[in-house]
Amino acid sequence: MSTNAKETALRRQKQLLSHLKGESAETDPKEQIKQVAVYGAGIMGGGIAQVVAQAGYKVTLWDIQQSDIDRGMQTIRNSLERLSKKQEIDPTSVLRRISTTTSQIQAAHAADLVIEAIVEDLKTKQQLLERLDKVAKPSCIFATNTSSLLVRDIAKTVSGARKARTVALHFFNPVAIMQLVEIANADGALLDLLKAFVRDIGKVPVVCRDTPGFIVNRLLVPYNNEARQMVERGDASIEDVDTAMRLGAGYPMGPFELMDMTGIDVGYHIMKGWYEGASGLQGDPRFKPSKEVEQMIKKNHLGHKTGRGYYTYTK
Ligand code: 3HC
Repeated sequence: MSTNAKETALRRQKQLLSHLKGESAETDPKEQIKQVAVYGAGIMGGGIAQVVAQAGYKVTLWDIQQSDIDRGMQTIRNSLERLSKKQEIDPTSVLRRISTTTSQIQAAHAADLVIEAIVEDLKTKQQLLERLDKVAKPSCIFATNTSSLLVRDIAKTVSGARKARTVALHFFNPVAIMQLVEIANADGALLDLLKAFVRDIGKVPVVCRDTPGFIVNRLLVPYNNEARQMVERGDASIEDVDTAMRLGAGYPMGPFELMDMTGIDVGYHIMKGWYEGASGLQGDPRFKPSKEVEQMIKKNHLGHKTGRGYYTYTK
């Protein structure tokens, strides 16, 4: 049996099982979503393309330059290699479902679902969606993986009809491993479809209002910031704060390890955006941009991705 046929048979079996268990029949997302376009081949976009392709969807991965795409595809190959050691995954067939392009239009026009995971900048996201709105099918859903912006702000440049189909699907790093996807700005049949899609790609959906940081980042960002201030005040060392949170609170990583993994610049820009303009958070001292972090960014100490952040990393 081909891998595709195996996956379809598995899906049918799952549906039948949930029917037999008396669970309410869930929308089959593959009836409405056949082709997914992911914008941004960075850590998040690449990870999203990977998990969506792993679940049997056809994916087009876009980025500006071929070198960004090549780097993204290499990360996907490495991740699939790691996963195939412990799960029944055939990296070749997953990779076959991912095509790549540097043409924004080409990626969008056959897509049933667009997921943007580009730079966390409101204007850049608005410009991308405005362009895609003109070429995408009317039924195509636009999803943003924003970590801090409001969906309704990102959707300001799209048509009225598309606004009603613009949502957040917020994934977590590393996407291949983290089970959660936050959904915001969706209701009714669209929400049901998105929940079914999230479950179909092996993740667990949670739903929240369209508010800055949704659930996880709204809690994580002030927590990380408090840890940084604790060290700046000289209350404890970086290493001891990380050890304390791993062993005392059972977190898989301490806050400094986590900030290094997600990117020092990413956390900084989230806080800056909130401090300077997010509704309800503007001027909130908890999010005041830190001079120490600005210095780290100037020195390119951004965490894992540059080999140095709060810790130093060798490949
Ligand atoms: N692809 C495939 N497999 C991976 C992987 C990847 N990208 N990353 C890790 N793994 C696998 C490893 O191979 C390993 O498998 P094994 O157990 O079979 O050997 C397993 O995951 C565990 O990895 P490690 O042994 O390397 O290390 P850990 O046990 O510490 O787990 C971790 C790593 C899963 C990252 C864990 O430390 C963790 O859950 N950390 C917290 C992550 C977190 O909080 N993420 C959210 C950040 S916020 C965010 O993303 C929002 C955004 O908007 C900023």
